[in-house]
Amino acid sequence: MGRHPGHAIVFGASGLIGWAVVDQLLRCYPETSTFSRITAVTNREVTFSESHWPEPNAERPKLQLISGIDLRHGDGVMLANSLKQAVEDVETVTHLFYLVFTAHPNGTEEVATNRRMLQNVIDAHNFLSPDLQFVVFPGGTRGYGIYAPGGVFTPPLTEDMVNNLPPEQAKTVVYPANRELLSAASKGRDWTWCEVCPDAIIGFTPNGSQFSLALHWAQYLSLYAHNHGTGPSNQESGRPAIEIPFPGSTAGANSLFSPASATKIARFMIYASLHSDICGGGQLFNIADNDAPCTYGELWPRLAGWFGLVGTGPAGDSQTQNNALAVGELPQGAQQLTPGEYISKHKDIFTQCGRSKAVDGGVGAGSRQLDSVGYWLTFDRHLSLEKLKKTGFEGSQDPVQGWLDSFQMFRNVGLIL
Ligand SMILES: NC(=O)c1ccc[n+]([C@@H]2O[C@H](COP(=O)([O-])OP(=O)(O)OC[C@H]3O[C@@H](n4cnc5c(N)ncnc54)[C@H](OP(=O)(O)O)[C@@H]3O)[C@@H](O)[C@H]2O)c1
Repeated sequence: MGRHPGHAIVFGASGLIGWAVVDQLLRCYPETSTFSRITAVTNREVTFSESHWPEPNAERPKLQLISGIDLRHGDGVMLANSLKQAVEDVETVTHLFYLVFTAHPNGTEEVATNRRMLQNVIDAHNFLSPDLQFVVFPGGTRGYGIYAPGGVFTPPLTEDMVNNLPPEQAKTVVYPANRELLSAASKGRDWTWCEVCPDAIIGFTPNGSQFSLALHWAQYLSLYAHNHGTGPSNQESGRPAIEIPFPGSTAGANSLFSPASATKIARFMIYASLHSDICGGGQLFNIADNDAPCTYGELWPRLAGWFGLVGTGPAGDSQTQNNALAVGELPQGAQQLTPGEYISKHKDIFTQCGRSKAVDGGVGAGSRQLDSVGYWLTFDRHLSLEKLKKTGFEGSQDPVQGWLDSFQMFRNVGLIL
């Protein structure tokens, strides 16, 4: 354990994992007074009332929310000047949670931009924060080559495999560059770091997230339920059940994977940051809700059921589409609209139902990639959680719970019907 109470700074606090890290810290995970102060940094403007984080009280750490910090601009010195002016007690920062990511169609450009943003943050804090103890950032299963059709490694995926990612793939993924950067920047310093590797992240964000599968499917399912006159109370009404096929192929429905709720990832990141003796030194840890893998085919009926729908297997014309497609590729000639096409076609309903926030608050540019999830991810890619278990972190949970909690939050804030 480190020295307490700490000052956590969270970059990317409006994103899927970042929002959950701030939420968990405000809920006093792991204990009241572990942290006395949280600084949440966002790029796009977010107000506290829009954030839906818990209201302040005497038990919680004090939160400062800073918006409008675009990390692409300038260098570490410029960022240090901005943070010095904006962050109260920046010199007391002890734990740095880095959850920033920006996508770019060109892989090399994506690596360069994301690497530069992390470099700026680390340079700034090496200058500003002498008490810094721990830095943590998320990688992802892209680092195991899941963007290559059929994948690269035979699962369960273990942390050592990332070192054998073929170079042509490694150069389009920022995680190896981040590791190199953090190893160099922490040399001779009092802080250490680790990386956490999730597959699909299931969580809430207050203002959308380009790669939120839970939000994408929730918008689809809620519009579908509305258009078919069904809802959570359908079962009691005695109306006929409305079926909705899984948006993918049979192989996509049956392949094994390991989803992770943003809350669980956030909790482990905080846990790791407080156990630098066992989690530091630049280690990588897989993370998922449950050490037993699951399939989208198992999850789909339970997700659809929350909306009063009956989730079934892939539609007839998708059942034979079992050849692995590339990321963002969709089968030719499918009759069923993809979730993204369905949302686009019916999004006016959100406005008509007083949910105009749902129109701009969806997944935007990530829509096509998310539509392809059920067609492209046709191979087993589950994670080994053996290393995670050895840290003593909490045990497994139902992988559906994170989806249902997220759906409820989306409904509470008007992102779905
Ligand atoms: N989504 C998934 O299912 C998934 C799965 C596995 C791994 N991952 C990995 O997890 C990491 C985080 O992804 P995520 O899905 O959580 O992302 P996300 O929800 O889109 O969050 C990214 C965060 O980065 C911030 N950001 C983007 N550009 C910025 C800039 N120029 N300056 C400052 N902040 C900026 C965003 O803020 P604004 O929105 O305000 O710009 C947002 O808070 C990535 O490395 C990703 O590859 C994601």
